[in-house]
Amino acid sequence: MFFVLNWVMRYGIFSDIHSNIEAMTAVAKAMRSEGAQEYLCLGDLVGYYANPDEVIELIASLNCWKIVMGNHDSALLGRTPLSKFNQPAADAITWTRTHIKPQNQRFLEDLRLREEIGEIQLVHSSPFQSEEWHYLTGQEDLERNFRYFQGFICFFGHVHKPFIAEQRGNGSVRILEEQECQLQKECRYLVNVGSVGQPRDNNPKTCYVMYDSTAKKLSIRRLDYDYETTAQKTLAAGLSDFLAQRLKTGK
Ligand SMILES: [Fe+2]
Ligand SMILES: [Fe+2]
Repeated sequence: MFFVLNWVMRYGIFSDIHSNIEAMTAVAKAMRSEGAQEYLCLGDLVGYYANPDEVIELIASLNCWKIVMGNHDSALLGRTPLSKFNQPAADAITWTRTHIKPQNQRFLEDLRLREEIGEIQLVHSSPFQSEEWHYLTGQEDLERNFRYFQGFICFFGHVHKPFIAEQRGNGSVRILEEQECQLQKECRYLVNVGSVGQPRDNNPKTCYVMYDSTAKKLSIRRLDYDYETTAQKTLAAGLSDFLAQRLKTGK
């Protein structure tokens, strides 16, 4: 007798939340209503904005299958030096250290730089030298990074701009234009899932990805959320006006 393994199909995947609870609340609700069966989080839960505890507690309530560590999470824990960050980012990490609950800091301590689930790989920044927090955007870097992971697809964050890079059997890599894609079994993929809490692609809408691992369908989703409230809280907390303003333009 044969049994068909009913493997997870529908993943909700998100990254770079950066203590923005308004955006994370909107994304969690949307992923749920789209029928996500499992959640994957690609790091940078904290930094920049004013609700680290609320964000970590909401993400914990999703019971994500895997979460990887981002550079802001690592900096909060003292594992990446603040000298690697610009001033508003470093100030926000310092602020977060004095405002986060100990149990939520402990939640971050156990996260790893890389995770995998079968043919799916997860990193925050890049498969190549994940601990160096490279920004993976250029054509040459993408081509090189396809050599540094095994399996069909690698999801990553850190860049705050969503895109899908496809590698064909002959090794050539191209960026797909579509936001909704039927992935090809003979190709491999590097997918940036964008940023929940601070989009930087000239679009202030929050961002996440839905991935059906059986049908091989992938969708980049954008969603309105209440960034005015996030911006007000940023200022009320004494955090940078620059960080508050960029939410409104997505830059
Ligand atoms: Fe980030
Ligand atoms: Fe990052």
